[in-house]
Amino acid sequence: MPDKNLSLTQNVERLKRYAFLEQSVMRTLAGWLPGAPEWEVKNEIGLHIWEDADACERLRVRLREMRTHHPEKGIPEALRHLARELDCAANTLELLSTVYLVVKKALLETYRLHPTLTYPVFDRPTIKVLGELTEIYERQVAWAEEMVARLRHESDGGGDGESVGGWEEYIATLFAAAGGVDGAASDIVVPARPTGHPLLLPWKECQREPGWPVFDPDSDLEPDRETQPYAHREWRFRHYLNEMTAAETIGSILWMTPEMPWEFQYNTARHLWDEVRHSQLGQLVIRQLGYEVGDIWQVVQIYNVMMTLPAVDQYALLTTVIEPNGMPEKRRNIEHFEDIQDDVAAAAISYDWSDENYHIRWGKKWTPVMLQTYGYPETPEEIAARTEQWLLVHTPVKMQVRMAEEAGATLG
Ligand SMILES: [Fe+2]
Ligand SMILES: [Fe+2]
Repeated sequence: MPDKNLSLTQNVERLKRYAFLEQSVMRTLAGWLPGAPEWEVKNEIGLHIWEDADACERLRVRLREMRTHHPEKGIPEALRHLARELDCAANTLELLSTVYLVVKKALLETYRLHPTLTYPVFDRPTIKVLGELTEIYERQVAWAEEMVARLRHESDGGGDGESVGGWEEYIATLFAAAGGVDGAASDIVVPARPTGHPLLLPWKECQREPGWPVFDPDSDLEPDRETQPYAHREWRFRHYLNEMTAAETIGSILWMTPEMPWEFQYNTARHLWDEVRHSQLGQLVIRQLGYEVGDIWQVVQIYNVMMTLPAVDQYALLTTVIEPNGMPEKRRNIEHFEDIQDDVAAAAISYDWSDENYHIRWGKKWTPVMLQTYGYPETPEEIAARTEQWLLVHTPVKMQVRMAEEAGATLG
């Protein structure tokens, strides 16, 4: 039986583990966002990555209230090992069946139990936070149970059911050996990783559903906004739908930069979810126009070519070049969609424009910190100029070249 009436110190030690596990599942899911081919999974875990980061932040705020300013200190190596091993799933099914049905499910059970173990008056703020996190995890775990059942059913046809069970058991054993969620003493021997599980992260190429059409850069012609407003609208929202690749780029950046401060990870998890939402506003308009998502070409090339750059270059390029260059077009499009009386399209871009203001602000804040953290000799202005030159040569998306040129860039 767990202790009744936890002391403040015991309470802090538990909350530190919860915060660490929230951060760990967030990081694993971010790294896997490009690697899961299933469109529904990308859309859903995009939200969960933000929710997990926000859960971690709320726990960290509560820990600060209990005078703990470095909650990452004192996390045992066995728990860190578990977090690293979660990344080594071989596919979406193994990823979801461990991150959700082993780790998140155990966290959910603990979040339900914790309020009965602590002082109801003295520690009421913890009870409030955990109550909110319980609701979030009930929804997340219910989604995963259904998705895992579906993926398991599909993989049974390929005769893969056995190896999935093996991976889930491996992670569950590691977790128990590390003391589970609450840090119970354990004499379980840490097993070796099953064969066939090399680390696949970071994904060099983003994955899509089999048979989905791939973007052809040569046939990507931008219809004239004034003379072909409906063709232009469809073209523009096809590109919005493809902002999933921006989310995937950010997922890999987040995974590749664990040395960055927690606040960066927190902001970047939100940035990631915003880009999933920008894809979703594209999905919404495209469906209104009578298409299915699977009918629309996927601009996988932009993720793949950006992954030839280091994480710092990718972050500087996205947030200090591509995103600022895109702003003037948004203002023009809001007015234009109002003119042609498409309120949904105008509203979609108004929200996108608001989100982008924050992305640019975060880019200004974090690019200098990244340059320093990773020992770059460049200033923020220098890395922006260098990566913009790279973009002009390497992007498969003509719109990005046009926006850079309108902002004054020329190939040097
Ligand atoms: Fe966006
Ligand atoms: Fe953005």
